[in-house]
Amino acid sequence: MELREVLAKRRMVRNYSDEPVPSDVLERIVDAGLRAPSAGFSQGQRFVVVTGTAQRNAVAESCREHEYVQRGFDPWISRAPAHIVLCVDRDAYLKRYSEPDKAAVRGRTSREGDWTVPYWWVDAGATLMAVLLAAVDEGLGAGFLGAHVVDDLHTTLDIPPEILIVGIVTVGYPLPDRRSSSLGRGWLDRDTVVSYESWGRPRA
Ligand SMILES: Cc1cc2nc3c(=O)[nH]c(=O)nc-3n(C[C@H](O)[C@H](O)[C@H](O)COP(=O)(O)O)c2cc1C
Repeated sequence: MELREVLAKRRMVRNYSDEPVPSDVLERIVDAGLRAPSAGFSQGQRFVVVTGTAQRNAVAESCREHEYVQRGFDPWISRAPAHIVLCVDRDAYLKRYSEPDKAAVRGRTSREGDWTVPYWWVDAGATLMAVLLAAVDEGLGAGFLGAHVVDDLHTTLDIPPEILIVGIVTVGYPLPDRRSSSLGRGWLDRDTVVSYESWGRPRA
């Protein structure tokens, strides 16, 4: 598929058929995430791939899926045949930016407070997009549930406490779903978002 087509097709899918995702397809989608850039090539992105029924149900429980189902939404998480839990290892960045070539810029090793833009979140975003697009390219759908609505996933999946959970990517064959009410906001006007030559200037 052309990249333009993949980008146009991508949307968050929140309902899937029961059909499993073949393991080679799932691995290619994960590999797309591994191909994402990382600051200083820190490679702090981490993934937990979940396909077992009991484990997917446990993840759904951590997301309080039953509350969404009670409100008329589909069982998005438990029904998705695969989850890719996207995590970052912040310490990988602190270590990398304490190595001689990076520390020389600041004249000392790296501390968390130094980071006006925490690159572990930037890299997580790039990784998320790579995974979402790869799923579309494989003829599948993917969705993303942010960590802000997930409890206890560290415990559920034995993720070490120092690893930060970004969210859950769901992957599967899409079924019709209830669209997010957020989409009712509509797209912002292009001139609000894009300036030319300096902030606020429209295209000549
Ligand atoms: C960082 C991030 C967190 C998100 N968290 C959630 C979420 O917790 N639940 C949800 O239903 N959608 C979530 N979304 C999906 C957005 O609502 C969705 O991307 C947006 O409404 C645009 O819709 P589209 O991606 O289908 O084009 C999240 C998206 C991002 C990028």
